Amino acid sequence: MPIVWRDAFSIGYKQIDLDHRHLLDLINVVEAALTSEHALSKLLNAIDDLMEYTRRHFTFEERLMADAVYPHFERHKAGHLELIEQLKQAAAPIKVLAAGEAQMTSAVPEAARDALVALLRHWLVDHIIKEDMQLKPFL
Ligand SMILES: [Fe+2]
Ligand SMILES: [Fe+2]
Repeated sequence: MPIVWRDAFSIGYKQIDLDHRHLLDLINVVEAALTSEHALSKLLNAIDDLMEYTRRHFTFEERLMADAVYPHFERHKAGHLELIEQLKQAAAPIKVLAAGEAQMTSAVPEAARDALVALLRHWLVDHIIKEDMQLKPFL
């Protein structure tokens, strides 16, 4: 089931909200590629797109936090690193698989599929609600 944007996710800073909406779209593309039969290359591209846009968004957010002298900058930045690490780890078994003979997403073991879907369900949304929301008064 795709994640749907809700007004409760808005932190009221336009570029951050736009980025978050786009990231939710990218998450949904990954999930769609995972949960029905597709070329593995398509799934890997979707994961790479998500990874790349996530990194770009985090860099942008960290620059804003630094400019605003945000008091919880270090904690928030550590949270970003952790999210990148979690995504890398969840994607690792799929990358290994794609480097071999497998061509289609049906070759992805159920455990790897479930781990990535479960992660993506709360991965960004939890961070938006717990951490990004706290930026609101500073931006
Ligand atoms: Fe964010
Ligand atoms: Fe953040």
